[in-house]
Amino acid sequence: MSVELIDDLELEIQRLRKEQNAVILAHYYQQAEIQDLADFVGDSLALSRQAAETDKDVIVFCGVKFMAETAKLLNPSRTVVLPDRSAGCSLVDSSPPAKFKAWREQYPDHVVVTYVNSSVELKAMSDYTCTSTNAVQVIEAIPKDKQIIFAPDKNLGRFLAKQTGRDLVLWPGSCMVHEIFSEKHLVQLKVEYPDALVLAHPECEEGILRHADYVGSTSGILNYATQSDRTRFLIGTEARMIHAMQKQAPDKEFIPIPTTDGCACNECPHMMKNTVEKVRDCLRDLTPEITVPEELREAALRPIRAMFEVTGKPLRGL
Ligand code: 13P
Ligand code: SF4
Repeated sequence: MSVELIDDLELEIQRLRKEQNAVILAHYYQQAEIQDLADFVGDSLALSRQAAETDKDVIVFCGVKFMAETAKLLNPSRTVVLPDRSAGCSLVDSSPPAKFKAWREQYPDHVVVTYVNSSVELKAMSDYTCTSTNAVQVIEAIPKDKQIIFAPDKNLGRFLAKQTGRDLVLWPGSCMVHEIFSEKHLVQLKVEYPDALVLAHPECEEGILRHADYVGSTSGILNYATQSDRTRFLIGTEARMIHAMQKQAPDKEFIPIPTTDGCACNECPHMMKNTVEKVRDCLRDLTPEITVPEELREAALRPIRAMFEVTGKPLRGL
């Protein structure tokens, strides 16, 4: 798209944002143009906080469906729109609620901790939710004599078991983006750039995490890189995250770890569905709107409240 067309679109979005009294929230995995026009860019925890605390009438959630649903759970009187209704998540797809319910019944005494990257139905069957930022804190808050199920990401679960020394029962879900980084290519990059630090998201497989100098959420990776006195980093998370990193640390070098097919372009196909045009359209038409039936909302909010009680920063209205 030409620069003039992008400028026209952005002007239209500014006008509509005012007219609709809307806030635009964007995840770090959104395309650069969307990150640049958003009111706030962040990780899933920070975006939930923004959604819960906004006074605006409309929340345009530039991310995926489970994130927009969390915004609706937390702030039900707002209109929440997602630029592309089909922007899903492989972790949601790999944990169908009926299957999970049947599996969970085998462990009736276990506490269920569910990653926010999950459906509303899964949350409603859980005791706590967590994000990659606060997952260790949530697990550590559960009494040692309690056994724990962790769902739906097995890689994050394995990482948490290691970090906390707890024996977690894991649901076998995974992120289609983080599971395809190549250990072989990472080792080659480490040889090529011996000064570089490896920063990885805990959704990566063990073969990547064992080389990491830092493992953390998207905001954790960003903060680590900007605060470090090192200048070169190998990045094991979604490739568009590098836009936010480069903006905050323009003098540093961020090299994406390639996937198993050698591509240094590991982008989430769900996050990619949102475009600047779709942001304009959803602001204008207030659709696709995200709604959650009230009974389900109440049930799914319970583990989210439990998470915020653990982290000690309760949200307004919770
Ligand atoms: P964060 O919570 O770290 O932002 O991660 C979201 C996500 O979708 C990771 O794949
Ligand atoms: Fe889901 Fe992975 Fe995409 Fe995050 S990056 S939204 S976990 S598929």
